[in-house]
This record gives sequence, structure tokens and C-alpha cells, in this order.
Amino acid sequence: MAGLIPQSFIDELLNRVDIVEVVDRRVTLKKAGKNYQARCPFHQEKTPSFSVQPERQFFYCFGCGAGGNAVGFVMKFHNLGFPEAVEALARDAGMEVPRQDSPADARRGAEQRALFECLEQANKYYQRQLRQHPKRSRAVDWCKSRGIDGLIAREFQLGYAPPGWENLVQALGADEPARGKLLKAGLVIAREAGEKDDPDKSRIYDRFRDRVVFPIRDSRGRTVGFGGRVLDDSAPKYLNSPETPAFQKGRELYGLYEARKSKVGRLMLVEGYMDVIALAQAGIRNAVATLGTATSAWQVQRMFRQVPEIVFCFDGDAAGRRAAWRALETTLPLTADGKSARFLFLPEGEDPDSMVRKLGAEKFQQLIDSAQPLERFFFDHLSEDLNIDSIEGKAALSSKAMPLIRNLPEGVYKQLMIDRLAEIAGVDREALLKLAPTARGRDSEPPPWPRESPNLEPPYQASDFPSQHRRAGSLMVKPKSLIAVELLLRAPRAAVAASEAEAEDLSLLTGSDEDGTVLLSELIEMVLKDPNRQRLYFILLNHCYKRDSVRGMLTLVLTGEKITPPDGVADEFLEIVLRLRSQCKKMLEGKHRRDQLRARTAAKR
Ligand code: UTP
Ligand code: MN
Repeated sequence: MAGLIPQSFIDELLNRVDIVEVVDRRVTLKKAGKNYQARCPFHQEKTPSFSVQPERQFFYCFGCGAGGNAVGFVMKFHNLGFPEAVEALARDAGMEVPRQDSPADARRGAEQRALFECLEQANKYYQRQLRQHPKRSRAVDWCKSRGIDGLIAREFQLGYAPPGWENLVQALGADEPARGKLLKAGLVIAREAGEKDDPDKSRIYDRFRDRVVFPIRDSRGRTVGFGGRVLDDSAPKYLNSPETPAFQKGRELYGLYEARKSKVGRLMLVEGYMDVIALAQAGIRNAVATLGTATSAWQVQRMFRQVPEIVFCFDGDAAGRRAAWRALETTLPLTADGKSARFLFLPEGEDPDSMVRKLGAEKFQQLIDSAQPLERFFFDHLSEDLNIDSIEGKAALSSKAMPLIRNLPEGVYKQLMIDRLAEIAGVDREALLKLAPTARGRDSEPPPWPRESPNLEPPYQASDFPSQHRRAGSLMVKPKSLIAVELLLRAPRAAVAASEAEAEDLSLLTGSDEDGTVLLSELIEMVLKDPNRQRLYFILLNHCYKRDSVRGMLTLVLTGEKITPPDGVADEFLEIVLRLRSQCKKMLEGKHRRDQLRARTAAKR
């Protein structure tokens, strides 16, 4: 019931969601001046009279008179009641609907509004200082030296936090409640206990001092925090607002508000404030930046909601590649059909800012256009340090790639990734699908996506394998049969040599009660049928992975250390095969004796 959802929550929800996005996800909008328009979803029409106004967070149809806020739109569009519409919107925004109004909730809503207000005032204050402060020339010179012109500075609302400890405190902290807000907004810092008692000093001091400040705005253009850069080369180079109720680093993208206006089909993700600004200055207006943290799933989702393609832009050095791989891992489970990601690696020591200034917009745009598709980076990275011409390499690649591919949303893209892996590893796709099943059993839900330490560094982690195999792996009692299988895969001719050396029939192995030995006998038979068959080892490997019971252990054996030198393979293979055969023989003889005994006792009765 509507009455049970606190008004403060609805306020907060409406604060958090953006009507342009809410509508655009359901009805494709076109930019028209400050607003967006479309053909009205609520009545039949040929020319668009339906308009969405981001500033007022309101929609209105000039044709049929329908209008309202985001909740109203969802209600009308999906034919939902008010609480259901709130639920739906909250779900999309990753918020939980509280079930009871409490004074605390009401206070929270009001406080959040006050926080935004305070941040906006600070934003205006800093911008004013860049124009008026007596010492502004230092900041202006810095901007000029970085090639930022007045227009871009205005668009991104650059400001200047003047030198001194209490500028903002004096300007905006007239009374205790105002100072409390500054503190809560992360704009000022509380002094240490001892200092507080000094009557000449305020209880708080400015966080940003003598820095150029970049306001961080949410997608609706509200200031939620700041980044401040030094004007010389002192440290830290950048200071960012702390996390506050209005600002969570992993949930904002610097430049998104400005980039949204460009309505380009892709967004570029870069690392720094200055990269976004330099690109905008060069006319490339679709760059956004993370705020000194790794790309979060939320950020990727946010970008994909707006555009079908993300181009990640990273340094070409080792750290950049690591960051890119992390971004890939975050992106993979979110890459539904119709969405794609690409990776651009810049030469070492360059960032988009320096690069675009060096090359110019056109050449830089060409670089972006030639960025490598996610799948190429994916397979290249996983194949690093592997010899994928070898069986071991192919097996390792398969077992590293499959757990990641499994996390892709079901769809054509996932199928294509599996096909590609099958092609590279020379294994058919059915065998791959059986590989590295989830711990809860094959083809059940995929395992939860690793978020904290998602790097599957080469060669691979034990956790790539189901737990029972992991256990076996750590004890590493390799069954003799699988060691023989591994030797056979390395040198299929060993089977020919063994059968030639042994007059006695190797098919005795087929009767074994151990899966690995049965598998071995099947492989031997396959080799003997046609030892010169093309791509024989792929066919053999493929056959191995069809057998569920040995798969995990076999992968461990294949990827484990190889002790036997190449010219010793045939001998060792023969030795193992003979041992296995005599075991089989004993087992069969024992069985035979028991059968006879049973038959005799039965006859006596
Ligand atoms: P960089 O060190 O690459 O800076 O940090 P930059 O963007 O190239 O800056 P310029 O060109 O020297 O002015 C990239 C991003 O990492 C975060 C900031 O968000 C920055 O934009 N960062 C960097 C910090 O938060 N603190 C720092 O001290 C440095
Ligand atoms: Mn830079």
C-alpha cells in the first residue's frame, strides 16, 4: 500500500533516478534543445508531441495531456499501481524500498536535499573565485598551460579553491548548522581535538586549498563532490571529496552529464579529469572518467544503459593492462547482446590528454575506431604465457576461459565466444560446455561473479575447478591411467609402439573398473585405428573431455608439471600400460574365481 512507503524514500528515489533514463529505456528519446522528445507511448500519433524535461524531471505530452514524474511514467507505461511502480524504479536504481515511514527516513530525505544545496553553493563559490579572486591568475595560468579555454572551463564548471584554510568556512559556514552541512558534504575537515580549543581557529578548515577544482556532477547535473588538482607538482596531485550520502565514487562517472548531451552511440572510459576535459576541448565529447578507482559494475551498467558500446582507454604499460583486465572481468557479465566493449591501449607514458594534443582529434578518433574488441583482448590475455599450440596450452586456455565465458548473459554473444574458444582450443563446443562445471553441479546457476579478487592469473587458480577436483589436485595423487593418457596425448605413436611391443591384447584394459583406464583403452583403440589421422590429438583431447568423471583431474594432469622427457614417453607409457593391464588381469581373474565359487555353491544347494 502506498501509505507504507515513506515519502522521504520516494523523494530519495526521485533524487536518484533520472527521468530521461527511465523513459529512454522504454521509449527511445531524441534530443531536442534542452529537452528530449518521442512519439507519445500513450496515444497514437505520427509526429512526436511527447516531451521529457530533465531540468524539471517531468514528462508531458502536448497531444494527450499525459504528464508526471518518473514514478508516474512507470505507472502509466506498465499499468502499475503506485507502490509497484516505486518498487520497479527502486529495483532499477539498486535501492530497497523501506516499509515504514520513520522520523529518521524523513530526516534523511531532507538532509540529502540540504547536502545537494550546500554542494551547489560551494560549486558556485569556487567558480566565482576562478573569475574574481586576487590570486586567480595562478589557476588561470595553469588552465591555459593545459590548453583549457574559457568555454570548456565554463561547461565543466571549473573553479578555484583559493589558498588559505578558511575561505569556504567563512563564505558558507555562517552558523553551526551550515558548518555541519559543509562537514557532511566533505568540503571541510574537522580539526584535531587539541586545536579545537584555540579561540582563533574555527573548528573546521577547508579541504580544498589552492587547487583547481573539478565539480563531479551526477547524471542530472547536480554537484555531488569535487576533485581538486594542485597547481604545481606537489603531492597529492589530486584530492577528491570523500564518500558522502550524496557521493559514492563507484557510482559516479566524471563527465557523464556533459557526455550525455552528445548523444553519440558510444562512451569512452578514461582515467582522469584532465583526459575528459582535453578530449572535450578537442571536440571528442563522449569521454567519461572513473574517479581514481577501478571501474565498477555499476559504472559499466550505467554506461551500457546509455550507449551500446564502451571503449576503455588505458595505458599500454603493465599497470594499465592489469586495470584493463579488471575492467574486462567487470564488463563480461554485463555484455548482453547488442552491447559491446573495446579496449584501446595507449603507448607507455601517454594518456588521452597528452595523446589527443599530440595527434589531434582526427588521428585520435582513428585510434578509438581501431581499438581492439573485447574478445580479442580476452583471448590474447588468457593465452599470454601459454603455448596454445600445445595440448597443455589449449587445455589451460579452455579451463581459464570457460569459467569467465559462463558468466556472460545467455545470448548470441556468449555462443560466439564459446565458438571462438572451441576454434582456438581445437575442442568442440559440447566438450567445452562440460568443462569446469560449477561447484553446484553442471549447468546450474553460474558461480557468483568474483568481485574482490577476480584475477585468474596464469596459469590458473585451483578455484577454477570444482571442489572435489581441487582437493584431488592439492594432494595430487595422479592416477596412473591419466598420466598415461597425458603421455598418449603428447605422443599418440606411443600407443602404436606399445601394441607392437606387446603381443598380448591391450583391449583387456576396457574391462577395468577405473574410469581413467577405460578412457585410456578407448584412446589407444582410436589411435590404432588410424595413427596418421589429421588433427589426431584434438580428436583425442576432445574425447577425454566427454567423460565427466575424469575431466577435472585430467585438466590438472595436463596442466601440471611434465617430468618425462620427450624421448622417454613411449617407454613410460608402455610401462604404465603393462602395469594397468596386469591389474586388470588380476581383477578379472578374481572376479572370475568369485563367479565360479558362487556358481558352485548355488549348484550344491
Ligand atoms: P593521473 O595521475 O593519471 O593524472 O591520475 P592525470 O589525469 O593524468 O592528471 P594530469 O594530467 O597530471 O593533470 C588519473 C586519475 O587518478 C586520480 C584522479 O581521479 C586522476 O584524474 N588520482 C590521481 C587521484 O585521485 N589522486 C592522485 O593523487 C592522483
Ligand atoms: Mn594527464
